Amino acid sequence: MERITWFFMVCGCCMASLAMAAHSNRNLTTDQSALLALKARIISTSDPHNMIFTNWSTTTPVCSWVGITCAARHLRVAVLDISYFGLTGTVPPELGNLSFLVELRLTNNSFHGTLPQELARLRRLKYIGLEYNKLTGTVPSWFESLSKLEVFNLSGNKFSGSIPAAIFNLSSLQIIDLSYNQLLGSIPREIGNLTKLKEIYLDRNNFIEIPNDIGALDQLEILSGSIPSNIGNLTQIKGIDLGSNYLTGTIPHEIGHLPNLEELLLEMNNLNGAIPSSIFNMSKMTWITLHRNHLSEI
Ligand SMILES: *[C@@H]1O[C@H](CO)[C@@H](O)[C@H](O)[C@H]1NC(C)=O
Ligand SMILES: *[C@@H]1O[C@H](CO)[C@@H](O)[C@H](O)[C@H]1NC(C)=O
Ligand SMILES: *[C@@H]1O[C@H](CO)[C@@H](O)[C@H](O)[C@H]1NC(C)=O
Ligand SMILES: *[C@@H]1O[C@H](CO)[C@@H](O)[C@H](O)[C@H]1NC(C)=O
Ligand SMILES: *[C@@H]1O[C@H](CO)[C@@H](O)[C@H](O)[C@H]1NC(C)=O
Ligand SMILES: *[C@@H]1O[C@H](CO)[C@@H](O)[C@H](O)[C@H]1NC(C)=O
Ligand SMILES: *[C@@H]1O[C@H](CO)[C@@H](O)[C@H](O)[C@H]1NC(C)=O
Ligand SMILES: *[C@@H]1O[C@H](CO)[C@@H](O)[C@H](O)[C@H]1NC(C)=O
Ligand SMILES: *[C@@H]1O[C@H](CO)[C@@H](O)[C@H](O)[C@H]1NC(C)=O
Repeated sequence: MERITWFFMVCGCCMASLAMAAHSNRNLTTDQSALLALKARIISTSDPHNMIFTNWSTTTPVCSWVGITCAARHLRVAVLDISYFGLTGTVPPELGNLSFLVELRLTNNSFHGTLPQELARLRRLKYIGLEYNKLTGTVPSWFESLSKLEVFNLSGNKFSGSIPAAIFNLSSLQIIDLSYNQLLGSIPREIGNLTKLKEIYLDRNNFIEIPNDIGALDQLEILSGSIPSNIGNLTQIKGIDLGSNYLTGTIPHEIGHLPNLEELLLEMNNLNGAIPSSIFNMSKMTWITLHRNHLSEI
């Protein structure tokens, strides 16, 4: 018995070293050059507080740089968080070499341009926070390579075009925020594949349609976008924020049968017809906005 255990331990070790061999061309030095490539893409005058310009220096260890957290186990960069540094620049392809990166947080800076395809190599990535920048281009279809991705927030950028169906086979996804961009078209029906999805924010775009397949998402708690016809299936949903969209048609009376609904925000659309009386009868409802539509009274 002990020999068998020992065998598995040895075997486990050799598999680990094989895995390391596959990465042997990458180490903390690679991470350092990736971060220096990022630094080189940042306009120095946009770093008035000197958050990275003096701090990210080769004379100090990478893991002590501001905004950097290393994973103790591999001693590689695991978190890059330079949110709220006020930086202006572009995202270099070298960031795709941060092969142990788990979290990428660039919130509230002025990164512009498109996201380089090389980021598709960040296979360990669980969290992408790029909100409040000036990024352009389409929502990258190579997101589909990031199979561990749980959260991505692209809110408040200038992403345009339609949402690629490819990103909806990321089975780990729990939260998607694409609000405040310039996206249009309909939501790919593959969204019904995201069985772990809890929150999706699609408001302040030009969406027209959400497919019925969304009715399969029984974990969904927050939906922000446009009204799906089988909304009555979203029995866990607590908030519906579809304000300032381009919704037409009527408010489905099934909304009144969602037992956990607390907020229903439908203001500033082109909805018409009667307001279903059932929505005024919901025990948990605390907030309803319906103004600036073409609704008639009950
Ligand atoms: C990283 O690998 C390179 C060779 O690829 C080597 O020269 C360098 O010393 C290594 N750095 C560390 C920190 O292990
Ligand atoms: C860089 O910033 C970190 C975190 O604020 C700090 O601990 C470190 O001493 C700074 N290093 C240099 C060289 O300024
Ligand atoms: C890092 O990324 C760049 C651009 O994607 C590439 O040219 C370079 O060879 C990569 N590898 C290392 C070890 O820096
Ligand atoms: C972004 O940060 C700036 C200060 O750096 C602040 O004034 C602004 O309100 C922030 N924007 C958002 C949307 O949080
Ligand atoms: C997503 O689906 C495509 C096509 O079926 C497949 O090639 C790709 O590997 C899938 N991606 C993930 C992360 O499952
Ligand atoms: C995405 O980022 C925006 C802006 O910081 C924030 O308001 C929003 O709560 C974030 N979304 C999620 C799901 O965390
Ligand atoms: C995703 O959904 C589509 C359409 O609903 C389906 O054909 C496809 O097999 C699903 N893909 C995965 C990876 O579950
Ligand atoms: C909605 O719920 C009903 C009843 O639970 C179910 O039969 C139907 O398949 C669901 N719709 C979708 C699109 O999953
Ligand atoms: C309001 O709720 C009561 C009790 O649940 C129910 O009998 C009644 O039909 C509801 N009214 C509407 C308009 O849905």
